[in-house]
Amino acid sequence: MYSRIAGTGRYLPERVLTNHDIEKMVDTTDEWIRERTGIERRHIAAPGQTTADLAEQAASRAMEAAGVTAGDVDLIIVGTTTPDVVFPNVGCLLQDRLGIRGCPAFSVEAACSGFIYALTVADRFVTSGKSNCALVIGAETLSRITDWSDRTTCVLFGDGAGAVVLQPADEPGIVSCHLGADGGYKDLLYFPYGPSRKPEAMHGEGAFIQMKGNEVFKVAVKTLESIVDEALDANELECSAVDWLVPHQANLRIIQATAKRLDMPMAKVILTLQDHGNTSAASVPMALDVGIRDGRIKRGDLVLLEAFGGGFTWGASLIRY
Ligand code: ACO
Repeated sequence: MYSRIAGTGRYLPERVLTNHDIEKMVDTTDEWIRERTGIERRHIAAPGQTTADLAEQAASRAMEAAGVTAGDVDLIIVGTTTPDVVFPNVGCLLQDRLGIRGCPAFSVEAACSGFIYALTVADRFVTSGKSNCALVIGAETLSRITDWSDRTTCVLFGDGAGAVVLQPADEPGIVSCHLGADGGYKDLLYFPYGPSRKPEAMHGEGAFIQMKGNEVFKVAVKTLESIVDEALDANELECSAVDWLVPHQANLRIIQATAKRLDMPMAKVILTLQDHGNTSAASVPMALDVGIRDGRIKRGDLVLLEAFGGGFTWGASLIRY
């Protein structure tokens, strides 16, 4: 048995913060941000709007696209690093809002790779016959943990959510998933506090994403090259077999490096980061939804998803859409 993507959805909060808006906040320029990152604008959750709010919108759209109702969903997995509260997990909050009772619901915390991790787990549930309709979501409100006075990070991040519905199928579907992590890089990209480490500092000075961007960049390029190679080798496929690359939307130059490795023209890469910046776990499912809804990704196309993020964590998934 295999799993297949039956429907996708995405949601971006209404408020848009452009590079020109950020020019008024820190010492930067629209030109620098576009040249170094490819980002033009990002969406920011309204005060009081939470990760579960964004996830609910994306999930509802994915369920509608898949033609399923709350009663059909028997598994919820949310990739997020910015949950509403420590617990209940965002999956449970979402379950309650959607009026679903009883099915497993949990979050996976793997920073920007969170969606690929969640998708991998959901695929295992579906292919082992334990789920007939899994809701898999990547949702983040990174704006809440971004230091808006630090030009080296604030230009990068934004809020959003993307979702897919996975259902059983006789043929792939999800062809293969590949995950990895190396905690040895924990000091290059992190949020310094949590409930068990200096909880009193969680909302104080320095309680923001900390990143050695340049070093992250180098490891990201190298790691993504090897994870896409791993995905292709595992299936004895040549680069030319891949119809679409749906990368984590962190930096245009990182994406270009991966496309080059795959010998793929940028026309075959789904690029959305100009519109919303790095939305961590939300970026891959949002880009997938964009490519599907605008008609570029068609049923039968071979799609390669990949992501890299804090941890470091990384992952890739080959999908026959
Ligand atoms: N505006 C203007 N100048 C800036 C800005 C800015 N917003 N930010 C940094 N600079 C300056 C620096 O101070 C530095 O100046 P100096 O040369 O005088 O010291 C110069 O620009 C170059 O800085 P670098 O950090 O070397 O710039 P780089 O080309 O590496 O770009 C960036 C920085 C965009 C952060 C890049 O390194 C990057 O994208 N890194 C990877 C991020 C990523 O992929 N993260 C993983 C996922 S995130 C997650 O998991 C939550």
